[in-house]
Amino acid sequence: MIVTKVERLSIMAILGSSASHHTVPCYRLPARVLHWSMAILVLLMTGAGLVMTQEGLSRELQNTLFIFHKNVGVLMLLLIAVRVGVRFAHRPPPEPETLPLWQARIASFTHFGLYALLVIMPLAGYIRVKAGGFPIESLDALGVASLVPRSDALAETAKALHFYGGRLLILLMLMHIGAALFHAVIKRDGIFQRMWPTSATRPSQ
Ligand code: HEM
Repeated sequence: MIVTKVERLSIMAILGSSASHHTVPCYRLPARVLHWSMAILVLLMTGAGLVMTQEGLSRELQNTLFIFHKNVGVLMLLLIAVRVGVRFAHRPPPEPETLPLWQARIASFTHFGLYALLVIMPLAGYIRVKAGGFPIESLDALGVASLVPRSDALAETAKALHFYGGRLLILLMLMHIGAALFHAVIKRDGIFQRMWPTSATRPSQ
């Protein structure tokens, strides 16, 4: 049976993203795995940070959340270093030509802001805790000495940076998730699928 070009386009339109995304180059697998594991960790870290600073929590729950937050937070610094390395080693796939320039610019700005905050947040958290003279159980157990001096002024500055950085991070995450859902559900242009862990689209390079 001969399928005309018009018919082929109609079939693709009906199938939506599942047909069109096969033509969009995707992120490499390491970048996709890192993206989703870090996404889960950042959401857990943000949730824990917001809950543990609430008044009226039981001591036990607060302590558990603090221990989780501090120790997973320093572990994230390692993951972020790997992520930045992977990002510089492999250029991301080019944006599809269908993406308007202003949306591409906002996406670049948001991605840069997220990377910057994912470095700033754990560093500020570390400085806030160590300059304040508090423990980070995993590092202390490994005998890792503090990299910053004990200083209330430094701890307060880092605390403010961590607080406002956290608010900005939440804003950028909402923008990022909103845009991802917009592409996945409404536009169906393959942009979401190129970061999906199990996508079978071809790598960008
Ligand atoms: C990606 C990593 C991190 C994220 C997204 C994050 C996020 C947050 C958020 C949203 C809060 C609540 C802020 C507030 O409303 O007061 C918070 C609080 C806090 N975070 Fe983090 N955090 C991260 C890493 C760390 C690390 C590595 C440490 C320490 C080793 C840390 C230590 C703290 C502490 C002690 C608080 C309580 C507020 C304070 O006394 O400064 N955080 N964090």
